[in-house]
Amino acid sequence: MSTLETITRENLWGKSEALDYMGRRHLDTTCPPLKSYLYPGARVLDMGCGPGAMTLEVAGLVYPGSVTGIDLQEMAVAYARRLAEAAQISNVSFAVGDAQHLDLADASFDLTYALNMVDYLPDPVQALREYKRVTVPGGRVVTTLANAEGRISYPAYPAWETYRKPNGKERDNSLGRKFMALYSEAGFTDIKVEAYSPPEMCVYPGAPLFESWYNVTKILMDPEGPDGANLKARIAAGSLSMELLLQAQRDLDAWYQHPHAFNASIIFLASGRVP
Ligand SMILES: C[S@@+](CC[C@H](N)C(=O)[O-])C[C@H]1O[C@@H](n2cnc3c(N)ncnc32)[C@H](O)[C@@H]1O
Repeated sequence: MSTLETITRENLWGKSEALDYMGRRHLDTTCPPLKSYLYPGARVLDMGCGPGAMTLEVAGLVYPGSVTGIDLQEMAVAYARRLAEAAQISNVSFAVGDAQHLDLADASFDLTYALNMVDYLPDPVQALREYKRVTVPGGRVVTTLANAEGRISYPAYPAWETYRKPNGKERDNSLGRKFMALYSEAGFTDIKVEAYSPPEMCVYPGAPLFESWYNVTKILMDPEGPDGANLKARIAAGSLSMELLLQAQRDLDAWYQHPHAFNASIIFLASGRVP
């Protein structure tokens, strides 16, 4: 994904910039294919809802159905509740909870989705089984994951790949490509997978989100920014040098100033039917 991949679990909502950035996301720019799974009257669960902006859009699309948003982070849930209150949307509720141990009854939802979050979990198959348990037989569980093998960009920025390793560790960059296997192991039927590059991640000069992409990427490279604690810890541990970070910043600036700059990141969306 993306910028979001560089935000670690520990400090995701530690600074308001990250919360505000994600609190402004829209289905049309982040996850257009989700809309085809929504219908009026559906009872929907949004796992790892974050600050809830897209959850509220879903509430509008499934009305008179309803949406429940759950996230591990209290700060994100509090933000989501404020957004819902401000927009006076009543068919949505938010709660703090752990995706792997949901305090929800069996078969409570027609659709469960989790955008950009199953790679945060130590056991994604166990989480998928839990999503299956709370979804009605015949209902669907939809999840998305970014292709973590790096962005496709022109001009390339060589320092980027090294800079972006969260906490200096290699990610399991093969999780999205294993969606068929993960869903199958979790016991789903009629499994479908698609790949797309949403507008927020397919940018070039003149594209609506070009500036926003550059700005959020830049602040995530700032040791005083929302990902600063992670960057400083990596520098202290020796897994990232200040020299490399500065080179990555220069590479990003050169990319941004290039008249024909281009970036695309690929997202995988998987969907399975509950038997
Ligand atoms: C990258 S964000 C995605 C947020 C939102 N779905 C979106 O696409 O904008 C991942 C979210 O998963 C949440 N999360 C991580 N582990 C979780 C868990 N075990 N249970 C519930 N939420 C979790 C994080 O707090 C964060 O809000």
